[in-house]
Amino acid sequence: MKFVVAIDGPAAAGKGTVSKAVAAHFGFAHLDTGLLYRAVGAKVLKGSDEIAAATSLTSADLDPETLRTSAVAQAASKVAVNPEVRRALVQFQQDFAKRDGGAVLDGRDIGTVICPDADVKLFVTASAACRAERRFLELQPKDSSATRDGVLADVEARDKRDRERATAPLIPAEDAIVIDTTDLSIDDAVAQAVALIEKAR
Ligand code: C5P
Repeated sequence: MKFVVAIDGPAAAGKGTVSKAVAAHFGFAHLDTGLLYRAVGAKVLKGSDEIAAATSLTSADLDPETLRTSAVAQAASKVAVNPEVRRALVQFQQDFAKRDGGAVLDGRDIGTVICPDADVKLFVTASAACRAERRFLELQPKDSSATRDGVLADVEARDKRDRERATAPLIPAEDAIVIDTTDLSIDDAVAQAVALIEKAR
């Protein structure tokens, strides 16, 4: 059985949490495609050329622990503007989506570019202030220098770059269903996503 769920949206809107929960609920495999761009960004921060980094990426580069910093997130959104970097990462994502047993992919361009024929497309969003607050609470225990204003500025800079780039900009697919998590609990957001997928199965 092949079944693809595409989940797109801006930074810290709850896509990752919703994607993981949906994958666990249906027994689907999950790919956080942001990790691919983060891994390329991390290599560039260490001095690599961005295209060489994207074409030589292996699963050993995808360690979420080292890739979840603001510096890597900003570097990721900069390399993500480059169409050649994006092209180098397409096949891996499309192969993942083709696996038997169902797949959930989350990112920025899954419903528009990577899996335009996905069975369900969700666009998970929330206000910038709410997303920054969530990211701040997540970063604070790991990074005592994080400030609310700094995190909000980071999130807004990344969103602007993601929305305004020429190739695969962040935009809901025409047939995507929007879930705004600003005033939703995690459980309610997951329940909405599960119900929408259930209906399409
Ligand atoms: O989702 P995450 O915040 O980890 O993504 C990091 C960055 O990678 C994003 O800000 C975006 O620029 C880029 N990205 C992308 N396309 C995707 C996933 C992530 O351009 N499908």
